[in-house]
Amino acid sequence: MANQRWLFHGLILTIWSSTFPTIHAMPPMPPVRCNDTGCILYNSYGVWGDRKDCHVPSIISPTTEEELRLAVANANKNKLKVKVVSKFSHTIPKLACPGTGTQSGNSILISTEKYDSTIDIHAARLAVTVDAGVGLRDLIDKVEEAGLSLVASPYWEGVSVGGMISTGAHGSSWWDKGGAVHDHVVGLSLVVPAREFEGYAKIITLNAQDPLFNAAKVSLGMLGVISKVTLSLERGFKRSITYNFTDDDHIEDDFMDHAKKHEFGDIQWYPSKHTAVYRYDDRVPLNTTGDGVNDFLGFQSNSILVSTSVRAAEKAFENERYVDGKCTLAASFLGYKKLIANGLKNNLIFTGYPVVGHQGKMQTSGSCLYSPAISIGSTCAWDPRIKGLFFYESTAIFTATKFGDFIREVKKLRDLKPENFCGVDIYNGFLIRFIKASGAYLGQSSDSIVVDFNYYRADEASTPRLNQDVWEEVEQMAFFKHGAKPHWAKNRNLAFLNVQKKYSNFNKFLGAKKQLDPQNIFSGEWSDAILLGKEAEKGDGCALEGQCICSEDRHCSPSKGYFCQPGLVYKEARVCRYSTSTTSR
Ligand SMILES: Cc1cc2nc3c(=O)[nH]c(=O)nc-3n(C[C@H](O)[C@H](O)[C@H](O)COP(=O)(O)OP(=O)(O)OC[C@H]3O[C@@H](n4cnc5c(N)ncnc54)[C@H](O)[C@@H]3O)c2cc1C
Ligand SMILES: *[C@@H]1O[C@H](CO)[C@@H](O)[C@H](O)[C@H]1NC(C)=O
Ligand SMILES: *[C@@H]1O[C@H](CO)[C@@H](O)[C@H](O)[C@H]1NC(C)=O
Ligand SMILES: *[C@@H]1O[C@H](CO)[C@@H](O)[C@H](O)[C@H]1NC(C)=O
Repeated sequence: MANQRWLFHGLILTIWSSTFPTIHAMPPMPPVRCNDTGCILYNSYGVWGDRKDCHVPSIISPTTEEELRLAVANANKNKLKVKVVSKFSHTIPKLACPGTGTQSGNSILISTEKYDSTIDIHAARLAVTVDAGVGLRDLIDKVEEAGLSLVASPYWEGVSVGGMISTGAHGSSWWDKGGAVHDHVVGLSLVVPAREFEGYAKIITLNAQDPLFNAAKVSLGMLGVISKVTLSLERGFKRSITYNFTDDDHIEDDFMDHAKKHEFGDIQWYPSKHTAVYRYDDRVPLNTTGDGVNDFLGFQSNSILVSTSVRAAEKAFENERYVDGKCTLAASFLGYKKLIANGLKNNLIFTGYPVVGHQGKMQTSGSCLYSPAISIGSTCAWDPRIKGLFFYESTAIFTATKFGDFIREVKKLRDLKPENFCGVDIYNGFLIRFIKASGAYLGQSSDSIVVDFNYYRADEASTPRLNQDVWEEVEQMAFFKHGAKPHWAKNRNLAFLNVQKKYSNFNKFLGAKKQLDPQNIFSGEWSDAILLGKEAEKGDGCALEGQCICSEDRHCSPSKGYFCQPGLVYKEARVCRYSTSTTSR
């Protein structure tokens, strides 16, 4: 206890002091590193499971569309598997990894890192055409310079245009085309394998009239390499944001109204604190006063000391099974977020609501990406080079009509013991966002609600987590009871079980794949595991990291006191729960 208290006070101190400017900082490390024997592709979070790295014999970084075509042609001619990765590699599932072990010998990785020179704005038809490797921030800045705005974007700007649309990335909106970026795509070019007389690879250009368009918009890198994307734009506008920190009594009844009333609204729900934060986020005319910035706290450059202290505190609480420590930490973070409006800044700091600023400054953020490489002092909180935050990101997408019931059930589970939910409130609680019905085969066919929840992940796969049963139950409620779909760029493996059955147009996607990539050169064991949602072999401890749903105690960790048991509210769930009665530690 004493130790934790000490850690905790140290933590709060460092958090406060971290609001002073830091000079020593470092940008994220590049995801691909090579030496004489080959290359390793890393995920930016350093989270690629049991076999952490992805080995590839070689990587090629084309700079033009023709070089991209030649790279695909060469792979096709030589019967190599091909995967594409951006300069960010921020996707959690191993979609961009061509294969491992025996398979890796005949594969190639294409990086879009250097394929980012063109951003063509067509002002008259309110559209922009970009190279797929262009980063979201560069795109937004160019578009805003021309007096225009991109309406939808994910909240995190460290993504490429190609990666973002390929995984269905989204912000939040039920208005017009909605919050998912791919629903603002009006055309794209795809490099696909071709026959010998066609030069082994060709570029096809698709627009809304083309039957392949709905397959290509969200295609997980499995149809070919997206080379160019045309996105629709609107005349420039500003946004006005106010966060209302209030009680969580009526989320399940109010969420639809909230989405209808506020163009870019969302809700953060902190269940252990009975708190909901409604984001009133509306479009306002350009001549509205205000030059604010949304510099979301979670994506700001953090002092390494803060990240490592939070991690050390979380670990200590885990080891001691000290739930109250997590609750205190959650309470202080929530208090801090309220004080600084989650990182909204009217000017250099937050001085009061509403915060009004240009769409380009409000729609997305990620200031930790630009930490200058002076020395090691601050970085993104999850940077794998420091022993900072390490967490799961579960993201479930519900049809709107089922969402209220999900919230009601989570509340039931919460009410059994609210402290058990403190772990998620250390992060961002449940982030509730909105996306509209889409024609994309791997997108959402009806108006939907997306819920993200992040929570502590142990360093070692074999270490069970405090309250792990709670998160497993919530996860199984979402994905199996309420049929939620997993976000393609996040989640643990079990969320993808039977994912094909959840998409009514899944076979149309497979049909398009057969047509465009008949030899399956853009498939690999990792992407197949996600897309086809197969459960891995059920080994000892497989449920701890979400590789399986437990059906026997050995899938949990009986030696550490974790046994496979039914859910408390959703009885059909099977979760690893800690119990002292059947074991002595
Ligand atoms: C801190 C953080 C916050 C996030 N917030 C959000 C959010 O608010 N909303 C949201 O929806 N998501 C969010 N995400 C997830 C993020 O949007 C996705 O991970 C995104 O796809 C990453 O883009 P990337 O450029 O890093 O893609 P990569 O990880 O490089 O690639 C993603 C996939 O796309 C494929 N791909 C990449 N480029 C191409 C191409 N040119 N042609 C064909 N296939 C390609 C890859 O093969 C892979 O399958 C967040 C992620 C992080 C790390
Ligand atoms: C070189 O890469 C291989 C794998 O590709 C790795 O096992 C080895 O440790 C690396 N060596 C160095 C010096 O980085
Ligand atoms: C905040 O939300 C609550 C609950 O919906 C509401 O009663 C209150 O008026 C809101 N406050 C502001 C400032 O909008
Ligand atoms: C903004 O411009 C519109 C006309 O385009 C005008 O009606 C309005 O009064 C202006 N608002 C402000 C705050 O200047």
